Amino acid sequence: MADPKMVCLDDYERVALGKLLPSVRDYYKSGAGEEFTLKLNVDAFRRYRIKPRVLVNVSNRDTSTFVLGEKISMPVGVSPTAMQRMATPEGECANVRAAADAGTVFILSTLSTTSLEDVAAAAPGGIKWFQLYVYKNRDITRDLVRRAEEAGFKALVLTVDTPMFGERRSDRRNKFTLPNHLTLANFSGIEATKINKTTSGSGLAEYCSSLFDDTLSWEDVDWLKSITRLPIVLKGILTAEDAILGVEHGASGILVSNHGARQIDCAPASIEALPEIVEAVGARAEVYLDGGVRQGIDIFKALALGAKMVFVGRPILWGLACDGERGARDVLRMLKNELDQTYALAGCKTTGDVKRGMVVHESSYSRL
Ligand code: FNR
Repeated sequence: MADPKMVCLDDYERVALGKLLPSVRDYYKSGAGEEFTLKLNVDAFRRYRIKPRVLVNVSNRDTSTFVLGEKISMPVGVSPTAMQRMATPEGECANVRAAADAGTVFILSTLSTTSLEDVAAAAPGGIKWFQLYVYKNRDITRDLVRRAEEAGFKALVLTVDTPMFGERRSDRRNKFTLPNHLTLANFSGIEATKINKTTSGSGLAEYCSSLFDDTLSWEDVDWLKSITRLPIVLKGILTAEDAILGVEHGASGILVSNHGARQIDCAPASIEALPEIVEAVGARAEVYLDGGVRQGIDIFKALALGAKMVFVGRPILWGLACDGERGARDVLRMLKNELDQTYALAGCKTTGDVKRGMVVHESSYSRL
């Protein structure tokens, strides 16, 4: 049974922040620079208004939808977040089971503390996508792609906003490293353990700058397409220009994201960037969003502005930190209930009923 004192995602955040080791807490919660965009990701949702319709018979409601041809129970899934066994011993396995049980998509990070094969075995029936960071040594990436295909992952999520890691001040102050009883479990050798040490500041930043490929360009999207039969989702797109290039290079999905405000500070909030990208992409690819989603009404707003589904990163980590798999399940349950309630109160029976005109920016009211 979920804890009855937990009534919204913010409750999970507050309790989790009090429970985690300071260096882990700071790694999970922080954003880049002075964290302007971190706050904006959440605040920008408040600048949109929902225009509810009334006297619609909403007695039968259905939050399900389809993404990349698969039916999911609700248009919210789990974003890739690294090193989840710092939150709870079961880590990624607890998380993937919670997502599979909720009937939605789980995206596994390249930098997981459980191998992709073990994650796949923990939830064989769940819809799993694999997030890719591209290593300088391309054989490593080629191998990850092959293993993800063999383990039954249904899409590759190429993170495109990370030629280097953003400036995360608290990780530098804390000299953040992965605790020694854990490794990056998709690898052996230096790729698995270099993150357990640091010579100067953040161990993660050092790991990334020495091993990730900062020459990545659009030709590499073509390369990735040439080595896989899986659909490709580009994660970290914030402009119409890049979304169009993404479609031209064969992406099946565009994930509008500023990496949870962890890369470039003063980037737009994801919800601010969404409309121009939806318009530019049209029907040529699916458009998703993550960043700052904390309530059912946020999901509703993103859907009305054209997203096919949204994803959440930190809220799931807070659920895991508070109560392991049960906490992650409860976070997803809350989001589903809140979305269902929003459908009812806004006059929507199904996800297809959530229409563009139902959400407007606050400026369209202040001008009146
Ligand atoms: C992330 N994110 C991320 N993204 C990615 O592509 N690969 C990764 O390994 C990680 N790791 C990671 C760790 C932590 C602790 C956080 C908070 C975030 C970004 C993540 O996928 C997602 O874009 C954001 O978390 C979404 O914002 P919210 O929901 O946390 O506000």
